[in-house]
Amino acid sequence: MSLSKHSKIETNVNLMIVLTIVAISFGTLVELAPLVFGQQVKEPIDGLKPLPALALEGRDIYIREGCHVCHSQMIRPLRAETERYGHYTVAGELVYNHPFLWGSKRTGPDLARVGGRYSDDWHRAHMYNPRDVVPESIMPSYPWLFDNTLSGEKTGRKMSALRTVGVPYTDEDIAGAQEAVAGKKEIDALIAYLQQLGTLLQIRR
Ligand code: HEC
Repeated sequence: MSLSKHSKIETNVNLMIVLTIVAISFGTLVELAPLVFGQQVKEPIDGLKPLPALALEGRDIYIREGCHVCHSQMIRPLRAETERYGHYTVAGELVYNHPFLWGSKRTGPDLARVGGRYSDDWHRAHMYNPRDVVPESIMPSYPWLFDNTLSGEKTGRKMSALRTVGVPYTDEDIAGAQEAVAGKKEIDALIAYLQQLGTLLQIRR
């Protein structure tokens, strides 16, 4: 564009506003259209199931304790990431995640595929005091998770709520939720959640 045409746009406020709106709308469309129309982001991958009752409670503890503030759950398709964490994250793994927990900061490692990487005992020791297993760790300790007991009173209702946004819980899942959770410690729920993370796509290293 010649300088004179460009200065016409830059010196005409109304034209500038209209063209800015056009440019932003185009950018928005390009970003949103695939999400609205693409099947790939709505189709669950093979074998994907809604979280079992105990793991669902574990996920809520994960959110309550702010684990997502230090840990992402989103492996980008870059060599350095896939070498370290495993297969990059795909949309179809996350279709039942409400809200999603991608995170935006990695003070600690990404946890999208931490499921099965350590034993339950390792997680127990690590959550009780991370320094007992990783001496240089700066992760906080979570000893209260070993004392707090879950009642499971709200688990079924949480499942019904998730069902309204498309998570395919069955009536049996909901009916059995309280029994599956009641009496368990919070640490058991959190570990149940961690141990299933990302296990459906396990092409690692
Ligand atoms: C202040 C930041 C911070 C918070 C909050 C935090 N972590 Fe961490 N986490 C770390 C760091 C740093 C490491 C790496 C050192 C280590 O293994 O302890 C880590 C490591 C881990 C690991 C081992 C990952 C691997 O691949 O080796 C797990 C699992 C984990 N954290 C779970 C949690 C959970 C669950 C919570 C919430 C209850 C949590 N973290 C909260 C910082 C944090």
